[in-house]
Amino acid sequence: MTASLVVEKLCKEFGTSAERVAAVCDVSLEVQAGELFTLLGPSGCGKTTTLRLIAGLESPTAGRIIFDGQDFTALPPFRRNLGMVFQSYALYPHMSIFENVAYGLRARRTAEADIRRRVGEALELVGLGPLAARRPGQLSGGQQQRIALARALVYGPRLLLLDEPLSNLDAKLRVYMREEIRKIQQRAGITTVYVTHDQEEALSISDRLAVIYRGRVVQIGTPAEVYESPATMGVADFLGRANFLEAQVVGTHGDRVRVRLPAGVDLEVDRGDSTWQPVPNEAATLFIRPERVRLGGSDDGSAVELPGIVQRHIFLGGIVRYVLDVGGGRPVLADAQRLLPGIEAGKPARVKLDLADIRAYPGTQRPWGEAA
Ligand SMILES: Nc1ncnc2c1ncn2[C@@H]1O[C@H](COP(=O)(O)OP(=O)(O)OP(=O)(O)O)[C@@H](O)[C@H]1O
Ligand SMILES: [Mg+2]
Repeated sequence: MTASLVVEKLCKEFGTSAERVAAVCDVSLEVQAGELFTLLGPSGCGKTTTLRLIAGLESPTAGRIIFDGQDFTALPPFRRNLGMVFQSYALYPHMSIFENVAYGLRARRTAEADIRRRVGEALELVGLGPLAARRPGQLSGGQQQRIALARALVYGPRLLLLDEPLSNLDAKLRVYMREEIRKIQQRAGITTVYVTHDQEEALSISDRLAVIYRGRVVQIGTPAEVYESPATMGVADFLGRANFLEAQVVGTHGDRVRVRLPAGVDLEVDRGDSTWQPVPNEAATLFIRPERVRLGGSDDGSAVELPGIVQRHIFLGGIVRYVLDVGGGRPVLADAQRLLPGIEAGKPARVKLDLADIRAYPGTQRPWGEAA
């Protein structure tokens, strides 16, 4: 596959010499042709700024943007041939859906017959052909979202940029519309950069994603790669529920690290952070997702077993989350698909972990946002 969009060491600083904000620092990424690539990270991490740099609405302090071999860095936005959808759709309330989508084409003095054809195709693409005569106020939130998409696609852009396009919708509609956006993007076969702070949205919609923190790319990978093998504990924590267990380094064995849990159990597991060179007696943290922790059952020999005490359970409908004390500082979460017989508050339970599901990181875990 050829890279469609190449972002090279992009930096953007805002402010005066007295007070500078580095919103984007050294961001490099490549988006393949036809790929849906997501920028994911907490509020204020620089997602919108990166997207506005790609769009040409901001100019970078340093770095380059190349699209299909053409240097975009100094090109004005209207010469970049891209479509953009923002968080607020900014539809014109007094105009019909057709005219909302046609607006930009009219401004470009496109021929009437051409406008009819292109608006018709764009509305068809988002599944709203029959509603062309209505006004935005007569549409649901999800339909308005599609109009904003149609308006971005009507020029036949080569690159689509979407900034939190679903944040105005309620939770259920968000889930539905993210699947719709994915289908429309694939039907149009358009290279897309999607911005969200919602990890589930990012995991479900993307071919690949970049996790961004404080203006920097922390990890790039497929949804499964970043979820299963996060590069840092921050990524592990941000991408979903995570258990972090205190441990101590005993030694190394090739790419793996040997650690000791407070209960005295020794394990040999993969390093989550490949740059880490562990040394004996150093503090380490083990990461494992709650859905990978198993409770009780017969001894199948494939797992590490820790003695635990059940503290409580939380019934969440689709899953039941058990909270257990296994010694050490923090409780361990174990997600089961149903209530487990015999696993009750106050009683002992065997906590089983597969070595392949565990990653080790240096130091002690701290959530993003806390001072390092
Ligand atoms: N025009 C500006 N002038 C000064 N600082 C700015 C400007 N635009 C953004 N920033 C700062 O740059 C940083 C990144 O902002 P940005 O809007 O890119 O974040 P974001 O990841 O999109 O956040 P959110 O999820 O809240 O939309 C923030 O610290 C923000 O305050
Ligand atoms: Mg933003």
